Amino acid sequence: MQIQDAIKTRLSIRRYANETIPDTDMEILLKALQLSPSANNAQNWEFVFVGDPDLKHNLIKACSSQRFVGDCAYLIAAVVDPAQKWHMVDITIALTNLTLQAVELGYGTCWIGAFDENQVKQLLKVPPQKKIVVCMTLGTPTGKHVPRSRKPIDSFVYRDQFGRSWNQR
Ligand SMILES: Cc1cc2nc3c(=O)[nH]c(=O)nc-3n(C[C@H](O)[C@H](O)[C@H](O)COP(=O)(O)O)c2cc1C
Repeated sequence: MQIQDAIKTRLSIRRYANETIPDTDMEILLKALQLSPSANNAQNWEFVFVGDPDLKHNLIKACSSQRFVGDCAYLIAAVVDPAQKWHMVDITIALTNLTLQAVELGYGTCWIGAFDENQVKQLLKVPPQKKIVVCMTLGTPTGKHVPRSRKPIDSFVYRDQFGRSWNQR
């Protein structure tokens, strides 16, 4: 698969088949995290992959009752040291790489921003000084998913100065 195809076909997956992901695929997915760029190569990221069914079930409530959190193969909690400047950027790059690698392997993901950090930290035993920036579901998609609309490129990409149309030469 070409990268442009992975970018084009990725979309948030909120319905999952109740299937596990083979270790061989997990190795590829974890490599996508490991090889991501980070400020000063600090690699300020830790990920808790939750596959335990009971734990996933308990996480549904901590994730604003989003039921698909219980159906995915893994709910991933993305953990950083918030004292480091670029923590939001680094962890986002790594997870973005994971989302695209997942598409190539036939898996789906969904970013989960609606979660109670304290509840998730408690359930996953994340140390108090760490921060969970975001969570993400990962698993085998099922059912129909409809792509969401996007703003036209010309409305957010400018040429040479802010607000100057990209299409104006
Ligand atoms: C930081 C962030 C947090 C998000 N949180 C949620 C969430 O809690 N639940 C959910 O269903 N989707 C969540 N999404 C997914 C967005 O709704 C989705 O990416 C957007 O609507 C575009 O749709 P697409 O991913 O299918 O292209 C989140 C996305 C991002 C980037």
